[in-house]
Amino acid sequence: MTTVLLVGSGAREHAIALALSRSGVDIRAHMHRNNPGIASLAAKTTIGDITDYRSLSDISGVDYAIIGPESPIERGLANYLERHDVPCVAPRQEAARIETSKSFARRVLDKVASDANPRYKIVNSIDEMREFERELNLEDLVVKPDGLTGGKGVKIYSEHFSSRDQLEDYAITHLKQRGVVLLEERLEGTEFTVQCFVDGNKLEPMPLVRDYKRAYDSDSGSNTGSMGAYSCPDHGLNFVSGNDMAKALEIMKSTVEGVRKQTTYKYKGILYGQFMKTNGGLKVIEFNARFGDPEAINVLSILDCSLDEICQGIILGDVPEPQFLNKATVCVYVVPDGYPGPSATSDSPITIGDEISSILHYASVYEEQGKVFTTSSRSLAVCGVGDTISEARQMAYNDIRKVSGNIRYRSDIAQGVE
Ligand code: AMP
Ligand code: GLY
Repeated sequence: MTTVLLVGSGAREHAIALALSRSGVDIRAHMHRNNPGIASLAAKTTIGDITDYRSLSDISGVDYAIIGPESPIERGLANYLERHDVPCVAPRQEAARIETSKSFARRVLDKVASDANPRYKIVNSIDEMREFERELNLEDLVVKPDGLTGGKGVKIYSEHFSSRDQLEDYAITHLKQRGVVLLEERLEGTEFTVQCFVDGNKLEPMPLVRDYKRAYDSDSGSNTGSMGAYSCPDHGLNFVSGNDMAKALEIMKSTVEGVRKQTTYKYKGILYGQFMKTNGGLKVIEFNARFGDPEAINVLSILDCSLDEICQGIILGDVPEPQFLNKATVCVYVVPDGYPGPSATSDSPITIGDEISSILHYASVYEEQGKVFTTSSRSLAVCGVGDTISEARQMAYNDIRKVSGNIRYRSDIAQGVE
């Protein structure tokens, strides 16, 4: 039987584990924290620092690995595993810079699809920062740290600051930390996510997903890892035309080629493109070198073929066309009260009702004496699957009301979508 090493312990990795177990493989899970959902599906589990490959004590007998989160990919886990003859469904550290360095991503796009970039400047000094500030209205400035921030680093003047000093202080902090910070023009439009399986050359797209990154209803509050997402039965989104989709795919294809040219590495694994449809055309907000969380949950919940075969295809350089059910998905995250702030209630028990129809995914929780406890990160993701968005939405919200504890969730995921 095929043995797959699955690295990561969030709800995204729980969704990967569910799809892998449907494909009949043996899962060996390497987790930062014992995710009860993944543990129940795995033949073997190990707990350790997933960003430190020395914590992977035994990789003998592993046929290939899937690395869920970005941090071990950034630290070169795929490079390490491949040096030890374990092929990976995840890019090498160098190619993953498309996610881990926003300035690298902008530079690659400049070479292959410059129209998809907003106005931006990679800033290495306070003088350069001020130069760009003079080119735009203060309200139109966006500050982006040039490294991983768990989705929480981007700050938009009009939403997060009330003076130039505040914006500059934030930019200077990051400039000091890394010697570089990215300033961008604020774009306006609607965002959507395209995730593709990539085998080095070919890209196979998955259903489009609409993600809700803001902490509170009506897209207010700070950015989070994401509070929920939906996908439609026809695998499109009503505001994304066929032309938009073709353009988005073309941008992703040329980005894969651009990464190869810049790094000499073929991009293998999952490429995630966050796009914004603006009046000035389609723009790239960011790329990720992995499945989205929760976007993985939306698409893998309706994957109607073997994830193992897809992974083997990625590794061999000939990924098959994936099949998905024509179903809607609505995924809603349960988070501890106070999330994403420092006051998020951790170590607090959560109870989950018995009769849940949605697919339940454990995220950053732990289990002790049969009870599930929160940490300061997202706790659970509930994914309703139905023939229509309203059916899937009703299922998810019916079930989420059966979860109790010091928790909250957004009540408007997929609201008003038909
Ligand atoms: P990122 O971490 O780059 O995905 O950014 C997080 C969120 O910030 C995105 O989903 C957008 O909603 C917002 N954002 C990022 N860049 C821009 C931009 N240039 N203009 C407007 N909003 C942006
Ligand atoms: N859902 C956004 C992300 O995974 O980065």
